[in-house]
Amino acid sequence: MNSKNRLFLALLSACCLATASAAALSEAEINSRVNDLLSRMTLEEKIGQLNQLSGYGYAPEMVGHIRSGAVGSILNEVDPEVVNKLQHEAVENTRLGIPLIFARDVIHGFKTIFPIPLGQAATWNPAIVEEGARIAADEAGSVGIRWTFSPMVDIARDARWGRIAEGFGEDPVLATALGVAMVKGYQGDDLTKPNTMAACAKHFAGYGAAEAGKDYNTTWIPEELLRDVYLRPFKALADAGSATFMCSFNDINGVPSSGNRKLLQNILRDEWGYDGLMVSDWGSIQQMIPHGYSENLRHAAAQAVDAGVDIDMESYAYTGHLRDLVEKGEVSEARVDSLVRNVLNLKYRLGLFENPYVDMASAKRFYAPASLEAARRAVEESAILLKNSGTLPINNSKVKKIAVIGPMADAQHDQAGTWVFDLEKEHSVTPLTALQQMYGKENIIYAPGLEYTRDLNTKGFSDAVKAAKKADVVLYFAGEEAVLSGEAHCRADLSLPGAQSRLLDELKATGKPVVLIVQAGRQLALMHECETADAVVYCFHGGTMTGPGLANLLAGTTNFSGRSPVSFPRMSGQEPLYYNRKNTGRPAEGITLINDIPLEAGQTSTGCTSFYLDAGDGALFPFGYGLSYTTFAYSDPVLSATEIAPDGSLTVKCTITNTGKRAGAEVAQLYIRDHVASLVRPVRELRGFEKITLQPGESRTVEFQLHPSDLAFHINGAQTAVEPGEFSVWVAPNANEGNPVKFNVVKPAEIASR
Ligand code: NOJ
Repeated sequence: MNSKNRLFLALLSACCLATASAAALSEAEINSRVNDLLSRMTLEEKIGQLNQLSGYGYAPEMVGHIRSGAVGSILNEVDPEVVNKLQHEAVENTRLGIPLIFARDVIHGFKTIFPIPLGQAATWNPAIVEEGARIAADEAGSVGIRWTFSPMVDIARDARWGRIAEGFGEDPVLATALGVAMVKGYQGDDLTKPNTMAACAKHFAGYGAAEAGKDYNTTWIPEELLRDVYLRPFKALADAGSATFMCSFNDINGVPSSGNRKLLQNILRDEWGYDGLMVSDWGSIQQMIPHGYSENLRHAAAQAVDAGVDIDMESYAYTGHLRDLVEKGEVSEARVDSLVRNVLNLKYRLGLFENPYVDMASAKRFYAPASLEAARRAVEESAILLKNSGTLPINNSKVKKIAVIGPMADAQHDQAGTWVFDLEKEHSVTPLTALQQMYGKENIIYAPGLEYTRDLNTKGFSDAVKAAKKADVVLYFAGEEAVLSGEAHCRADLSLPGAQSRLLDELKATGKPVVLIVQAGRQLALMHECETADAVVYCFHGGTMTGPGLANLLAGTTNFSGRSPVSFPRMSGQEPLYYNRKNTGRPAEGITLINDIPLEAGQTSTGCTSFYLDAGDGALFPFGYGLSYTTFAYSDPVLSATEIAPDGSLTVKCTITNTGKRAGAEVAQLYIRDHVASLVRPVRELRGFEKITLQPGESRTVEFQLHPSDLAFHINGAQTAVEPGEFSVWVAPNANEGNPVKFNVVKPAEIASR
């Protein structure tokens, strides 16, 4: 049979096969097939499986790599016809016919774009996150992408770091719940189904702690903090079966993650028993050279293999040097086998041996109406109402004309946010379009004022002001363009870019009520803007359905239920800023701000406590914060016991009542504090949450269990302890509120002696 016919037959059989999943093999069956295959592979073929390349079409050079077995997986190839042709080369034109895996950064949707992960975190709703991931897997799977480099569960306590957009914020408990939900959404219940993707927990580890919020920067994290905060979501994702992990770019305590045996082998594999796959980050093995950890690429390859990096993404370290390292006895072939095993294992788990091709008959399943609806709901649950002096919802009886102003009102590209390589921006529905549909084009006066968020040219201001004067309410859509956050896009200044703040002042000067709606990739420092505007809505870049979601919220068709997954700073200089901080020996009190200090005041006259002269202390809006069109009241928490043993558990109940006139959803947040410990503990730590919907006047009792693991912390590295002593626990609408009640953890002997 000539190769054309073989290709035709292969693609034909693919069409028949790809709609159904290959039956999932048992673990034992996969192991025996992997062992059999490994025993038949040459060293060269093994090394090829460890090599991942970025795609560039059905190009002769790539075909050459595939036929010679020099590549095991390809990222960034999203044309299903090309995927099938490249796959055909691997399956039909190589000695062992091992299929390729096609991977992509599908971070918050493939075509139907959901809010950026930070926005999804603001929903505090794992079901929304899971649904978004499911839709992303279906859309991406329909072009042959079976591996996404998501979720990113790096805890980020610094808004300057551009990649804060890609994760779930500053808290490990929230990030854990949402990260696990995302993995479930991508992987489904059967990874062999062609509409699933292998998830990738990244970036392992500590990447979000980049010094000064500057991407790729060094990190220094004591092991106790590493385990209490940064590793917590990773451990949960390993337990939840995330098929893959990615190591990070940063060095952690002096050792780059790609060569960090302690992290990758000792903690992940030996301690946690993780048996999935570890991929390097892009070029991160090679980058151990500029880090100053590897002498050259050969050395870097040996270090990465030793640490346990299974796949080399774009460093060419393994293809360049692994053979020589093995031949000279510096790396054992058994070690290489252990890496290859993880790659083959994933290919079997994905069902690629049985079902390698994209079903062209159902390829490109994008933008299903139900997916767009889900994306709209995600926007509605992710937007946070930060301030409302009664301007919202827009009152139809008083408001006839609406001025729509600002560079983010009609920004089809920028509303999608960072990491949307596959965006088709014509599918983005902007706030302008949605408001025109909702209120009638004739009632919307549109004057952007600025062309883009960094724009310093004020020539559009006069039209914007004119529009505001003609209107009954001004909706000012400001924020950050997509490119101002994400990888390598950090900012030292967290204010609104360009002349946006000045435009707000001019709009306010018209005397019309002004609603500021911010779309951004991070929490910005908006002290002045929040004082100026009559209402403030914060929407982390919302994706395809930003417009309809925001329009429903502004009109009051839907109620706000987003809560902040981060602490909003008053000023950039407060960063890193996070709610679960430790106390100082001199906690802030009697704050005297800079303009209130008398001339020539004595050095100690303003007191000696821990705050900034200009920013005071604490967040402008705390972690967990968000308003609603209704109000909620919390009862004092009721505990099942006031004393427990260190291995005991406790039930905490709290009744929440909707005290307003509208239905609404509230996020009940459970916090604890361990008052005295052998290592100082944070002043508050989230330990659980539940989002509930209440009708006006309705009450519901939420119930949380506190287990020993919730009260424990790490001491002496890996060791954990629940230390006897006084704790507080409370249920609250955000990190700054709540009525703490006390309980004691007592030594078992003390309980027995009573
Ligand atoms: C670099 C990024 O750090 C990582 O998150 C991403 O998955 C890879 N590039 C692949 O694009």
